[in-house]
Amino acid sequence: MADKLLSRYEEIKAQVNFHNHRYHVLDAPLISDLEYDRLLNELKQIETDHPDWITPDSPTQRTGARPADRFDKVRHPAPILSLANAFGADDARAWFDRVKKLDDRVEKAKFVVEPKIDGLSVVLHYREGLFVQGATRGDGEVGEDITSNLRTIRAIPLRVPVSPSPNLPIPNDLVIRGEAFIPIKEFEELNRKLEEAGEKTYLNPRNTAAGSLRQLDPQLTASRPLTLLVYQIVYSEGGKAPASQWEILEYLKALGFPVAGVAKCFDDLESAITYTETWNEGRDQLPYEADGMVIKIDDLNLAADLGFVGKDPRGAIAFKFPAREVTTTLNDIGVAVGRTGVLTPYAMLEPVEIGGVVVERATLHNFDFIAEKDIRIGDRVLVKRAGEVIPYVIGPVLDARSGKEKTYQPPTKCPTCGQPVEHFEGEVAWYCVNAACPAQLVRNIEHFVSRGAMDIEGLGIELVKILIDYELVKDVADLYTLTRQNLLVINEELTRRRRLKKPPKQPAKLNPKKEPEKRPDKLLKAISDSKNQPLSRLIIGLGIRGVGEVMANDLSRNFENLDKLDKAKVDDLMKIDGVGPNIAESIVDWFSLPLNKQVLKKLKSAGIWPIGGQSSISSNQSDKLANLTFVITGTLPTFSRDDVKAFIESHGGKITDSISKKTSYLVLGETPGSKFEKAKSLNVKIINQAQLQELVTKG
Ligand code: IVH
Repeated sequence: MADKLLSRYEEIKAQVNFHNHRYHVLDAPLISDLEYDRLLNELKQIETDHPDWITPDSPTQRTGARPADRFDKVRHPAPILSLANAFGADDARAWFDRVKKLDDRVEKAKFVVEPKIDGLSVVLHYREGLFVQGATRGDGEVGEDITSNLRTIRAIPLRVPVSPSPNLPIPNDLVIRGEAFIPIKEFEELNRKLEEAGEKTYLNPRNTAAGSLRQLDPQLTASRPLTLLVYQIVYSEGGKAPASQWEILEYLKALGFPVAGVAKCFDDLESAITYTETWNEGRDQLPYEADGMVIKIDDLNLAADLGFVGKDPRGAIAFKFPAREVTTTLNDIGVAVGRTGVLTPYAMLEPVEIGGVVVERATLHNFDFIAEKDIRIGDRVLVKRAGEVIPYVIGPVLDARSGKEKTYQPPTKCPTCGQPVEHFEGEVAWYCVNAACPAQLVRNIEHFVSRGAMDIEGLGIELVKILIDYELVKDVADLYTLTRQNLLVINEELTRRRRLKKPPKQPAKLNPKKEPEKRPDKLLKAISDSKNQPLSRLIIGLGIRGVGEVMANDLSRNFENLDKLDKAKVDDLMKIDGVGPNIAESIVDWFSLPLNKQVLKKLKSAGIWPIGGQSSISSNQSDKLANLTFVITGTLPTFSRDDVKAFIESHGGKITDSISKKTSYLVLGETPGSKFEKAKSLNVKIINQAQLQELVTKG
């Protein structure tokens, strides 16, 4: 019995590692997230029952290592070298001519071209296929042991080969080198989240990757979207001994390591240069920051025989792309207001071309950054534009100061609405907390009508903008005073604007009566339906800083209505589980603003005043779920077991414990039990929490 379970354990471990490789290395998943999670949960369950079975290559062992108090030193088995640079095709040809004189074989050599990713060079050590150590490059001889941090990077296999095959030798010892980095999209997403939370954003992907890998707490590293690509065998014993760079890439790929997809092998230098130049043009298409391409002589023996100049091997050269850093004058500093009211300073620059694009604006990150770097208006500043990353100011050129530059004072009032700005302890951001601030209004309304909040379908951003332009809506409460006539007018305006944007091929139909007029009626109904949303949804819709779905549910359970929440003091709020001083203060602040008070008054008189207390869920009675029976399995995103029972029963439905053919729906949460399989075999409809809520809101 235990034997059978142990072999099942080994099998799932291999399966999870295989699917992890499909997802994180090949970017070609074969199963859904749900199926992957199920495998992982089964694995976790076995490990809970048999902790002595756990091996270091188990996917559960990526995180969880304790914070270190320092990094140990690691001596590399062979020096970790660097590269000489070539700035353009002629430089590369000159290199070729130089090495040709040293060895005739160069004339006929092949060349491999790889991207030169701007990340952090790391060295990975595998013993008998198991990942045992990872280190930074350090001074090339001795680096720092960052094994626990590197283990959190899912693109790094914990055991190789990931998919064993008979003709794939496993080396006893294998030390390889690669570049760890954060892809551009992931970097921007990370910064977007930080900005929303009012926290300091990161300056660029490279420094963020390097900083993340040098964290003493691996949990922090795990939270950063790091990945890597490998390109070199530093040392190997047993296993395959590739004769060329191209074979190295193929061998590493076969073992399960991530290798750059854009790497290519060429028969002569000129073709390699042409390819490199196409990537210089198209570098914005690369998903990572690359500061050039590396051109390597393919034949490893020849490359080794060519020797070194200092620490640079003669057999390869870094073909650098033109720098994307330029200096220009900082004419002024502007301030943009985001959805959550965060004020972000940006540089208004003397227009300058960086890599074929004229740059007039660049982010200044936050007000602390301006102060720390002592950036002054009138300064010459160094600006960088890399990949698709928003251009950013690196800092002032101090030597270029004339003395006429002016120091910058952050605004005390919102640049758009003139209301005083606020700062919250522990955050770097300054906020405009005025819900009616025009800069925030569009975003506020967009948020209020979104699916997770009041769920008013059909009110897209274009319509919202028109409503604001026509002064029909000055805050979210005004949505409930809109008439059919108003909506007809804005619908016509929408049609007109769309026509202006896209000149029609056929003559435009000018008779508005012929336009479909269903939209206004549909919208009116959607707005009216939203009046029945529970208190939690309304609280989400108000867009109070730090209050998301979970917090809104907690608040709606603890307060009977918005009047009661309005009267709550910081101390009262902090009695609720999960409410810290920051969120408590943010709630109190929101309710204290006169403009927000007015919104509440308008909502109340329009009848949008849901009842909370006990459970906001049970207060919202209907018979939408009458004659339906439900079975629940797994953990639901925001409903506890009591919540979901109250919700279903308050809408006339029934909850039972076991699945039968008579069950109307299985509500599926995370970590489901055997009910999930049973429901599938009996063809019972399977829904998630959101779909359950939709049965009530949409019928
Ligand atoms: S080859 C002998 N290949 O560029 C081998 N380096 O100075 C020398 N880099 O910090 C390195 N991508 O971390 C090589 N495909 C690539 C690379 C690469 C990035 C980095 C490397 C080093 C610098 C070269």
